Amino acid sequence: MENILWCTGHELKIKNTVKARGSFIYDQEGNSYLDLESGVWVTPLGHSHPRVTQAVSDQAEKIIHCGYYNGNKIVDDAARALLKITGITKGKGVFLSSGSEAVEFGIKAIKKATGRNRLLRLHDSFLGSYGAAGNKQQEAWSILDWTDCQTCQKGECNQDCPVLKDIPFSQLGGFVFEPGSAGGLVKFPPERLINHLVKLFRQHGGLILANEVTTGMGRSGKWFGFQYYGFQADLIAMGKGLGNGYPVSATVMTKEVAAVLEEKGFYYQQSHQNDPLGCRVVLEVIDIINEENLVNRSREKGEYLLRRLEEIFSGYDFVKEIRGRGLMICLEFSGVEKREAEFFHTELFNRGYIVSLRPGHNALRIDPPLNIEIKHLDNFLGELEEVLSLLTG
Ligand SMILES: Cc1ncc(COP(=O)(O)O)c(C=O)c1O
Repeated sequence: MENILWCTGHELKIKNTVKARGSFIYDQEGNSYLDLESGVWVTPLGHSHPRVTQAVSDQAEKIIHCGYYNGNKIVDDAARALLKITGITKGKGVFLSSGSEAVEFGIKAIKKATGRNRLLRLHDSFLGSYGAAGNKQQEAWSILDWTDCQTCQKGECNQDCPVLKDIPFSQLGGFVFEPGSAGGLVKFPPERLINHLVKLFRQHGGLILANEVTTGMGRSGKWFGFQYYGFQADLIAMGKGLGNGYPVSATVMTKEVAAVLEEKGFYYQQSHQNDPLGCRVVLEVIDIINEENLVNRSREKGEYLLRRLEEIFSGYDFVKEIRGRGLMICLEFSGVEKREAEFFHTELFNRGYIVSLRPGHNALRIDPPLNIEIKHLDNFLGELEEVLSLLTG
C-alpha cells in the first residue's frame, strides 16, 4: 500500500486481503479472519453475498448510471421499498454515495425547509466526515450533553433541567438524532429525553433527522434505531449496510418535508445521485433481509451474544459495561493502564477474529453480519475465554 495515503486513523492490519465471503476475510497467505466488524459495519449480509453480486452484475449489464436528465424505474422502486421499511409510506427519497453525504444532505434539507441554520446534536454524535456534519463544533451546533441523563432519577424531563434550559428550541431548525451509535460506543439515549426533545421540536416547527447510517438496516434488532423510541422521524439518513459493501446511501423524508423543499426550490447535485446500479443493490438487500427474517434474527442473536458475554466476564471488575441492541455490542473496560481492549483486539486478531477497537477508548465493538452462523459466534466466544484467561493469568 506504498502508493496509498493511509489516513483512516487505524493501523493497517492485513496487508493484502485477497477474498472475502460471508463472515470471513482471507489474506494472501491463506489465513482466514472471522469479521465481527462487518467491514466498517457495512456488510449485514456478509461479504460478497451471491444475490447482491448477481444483482450488481445483472444491473451493470443494463444500465449503471443515467445522468441528471433521466429517470429509471429501479430508482423509484428502491425509494418506495425504503420508505416502506422506515414507516414513511408516502414520502420521497434521494440516493447518494456515502453515509456522510446522506447526513449532510439531511442537514442541508432541514436548513432549507425551516430557514434556520442551527441544529441540535447530542454531544457524542458522529454525524459524518465532512461538510456541516464534519464541523461538530459549538459555533455550528447546539450541543446537548446527555451524560447526566443516564443516571437521572427525576422522572419526566422539563425545561428547568440544566441539560435543557439553555437550548434555544425556537431558533433551531431541528435535531440530528443518532439512536445508539454514540461515536461508536453503542449508548442509547433515554426514551424520555428523546421524546421530550421531539415534542419541543414539533412545538417549535423543527424537524427530526434520524441518522441511521450505523444503526439502520436491522443492525439494532429493528429496521431502524429510532423505532425503539415510538416517534416517526421526518427525515432518515442511511448508508453502510444499505449497499452491503456497495457504496450507496440514501436520505428519505415525509411528503410534507418533500413538498416544502420542492416549493422552495431545494438544489442538490452530484454525479452519482440516483444511479440505478446502487438502487438495484438496495432492492436486493431489502429483499434478502425480509426473506431471511434478519431483523428478528439480529435481535435474537444479539440477545444470545450479550448473555454469553455477561456470563464470560461475570465477576471481573475491569469490565465497566457490556451493552448492546441487536448485533451492535460494546464491551467497555474500566482499567486505564492495562488497556484491556488493545490486548483483546491484538490477541483475537492473531487468532483470526476481527473486532472493532475504538480509537482513544478502552472499548471493543462487536458488529457481526446479521446472518452469521451461531457456530462461528460460539468459536469466537471460546477464543475470547482463552484470551481472558491469558489476561487474568
Ligand atoms: C453514525 C455515523 N454516521 C455517519 C457516518 C458516516 O458514514 P460514511 O463513513 O459512509 O461516510 C458514520 C461512519 O462511521 C457513522 O458511524
